[in-house]
Amino acid sequence: MKALILGATGQLGREWQAFLADFETDEFVVVPYTSNQLDITDFENVEKELFEQQPDVIVNCAAYTKVDKAEEDREKALLVNAKAVKNLADRCKKLNIKLVHFSTDYIFAGDKEDRRQFPEGYPENHNADPVNWYGQTKWEGEKAIRNSGCAHLIMRVSWLCGAYGNNFVTAMLQLAGEYDQLDIVSDQWGSPTFTDTLVRSTFKLIEEEQEGTYHLTTEGIISWADFAEKIFAMADKQVSVNKIPSSEYPTAATRPCFSKLNTDKVKNISGIEVEEWQQGLRRLLKQLNKK
Ligand SMILES: NC(=O)c1ccc[n+]([C@@H]2O[C@H](COP(=O)([O-])OP(=O)(O)OC[C@H]3O[C@@H](n4cnc5c(N)ncnc54)[C@H](OP(=O)(O)O)[C@@H]3O)[C@@H](O)[C@H]2O)c1
Repeated sequence: MKALILGATGQLGREWQAFLADFETDEFVVVPYTSNQLDITDFENVEKELFEQQPDVIVNCAAYTKVDKAEEDREKALLVNAKAVKNLADRCKKLNIKLVHFSTDYIFAGDKEDRRQFPEGYPENHNADPVNWYGQTKWEGEKAIRNSGCAHLIMRVSWLCGAYGNNFVTAMLQLAGEYDQLDIVSDQWGSPTFTDTLVRSTFKLIEEEQEGTYHLTTEGIISWADFAEKIFAMADKQVSVNKIPSSEYPTAATRPCFSKLNTDKVKNISGIEVEEWQQGLRRLLKQLNKK
């Protein structure tokens, strides 16, 4: 088995590299690509590399992830998150490669009505209706994969956090060193997904030869302010959280107020468990402490 990891230096790409290092043998080959080694928007080079490598699986961690910047950098975001993903999917179909891809809670409208309708979170088959450009480009990427007819797994995740790279947890820990009180929005609801659990669960789905779209996040539904309070409490940081509405924290990109993903589908796969968000956070804080 040969697996290529694209976007290998991102937060998720590094988690995949760490996880797969334990599996590497002569029969299980992992080839990581940084964005410099393989830019997914260089269609010609992608074709050449895939043809030469002939992998069984591509794990695509490459993405344009700057949600606010995407509002002005529209062409670039669309190129990376949709056009390049279409190219990858078309090549995968041609060369019989399975494409593992990651998408986002931001493909959904995330309004109050949806929260009332889906208190346990959005199911996989609910219609997409993104409220920002990043979400729109990720949705275009998803559709391109399905339309290509290639064998694929699309993992939708929310509030991604892990021991590698920058995320809400690392940002809060950094700010805790500078401030004793912080304004955090309390009217956007969802749940964090931890990269180590995501990688382990996705690997299980690959092993089980599953295909299609899955939601993967933790149990529970919280606001960013709740999340911040728990981070400070668990990390023993003396920071008080002022809960503010999103209207007092304007951003270039609109954020959905509800982006909880329902995980019933993935829970039906034997060997996959969905943990409570507090459990994932406790583990991540320990991992960050060791660094
Ligand atoms: N972060 C979140 O909260 C979140 C939430 C929901 C879903 N997701 C999804 O989860 C996946 C992983 O996110 P992440 O947090 O790991 O993102 P990340 O840390 O920003 O990593 C993205 C990676 O993609 C690479 N990349 C960007 N443009 C590229 C290109 N043209 N060719 C090749 N590589 C390119 C980047 O390389 P350079 O740094 O060298 O440019 C970086 O290594 C993405 O699909 C994202 O949409 C993330």
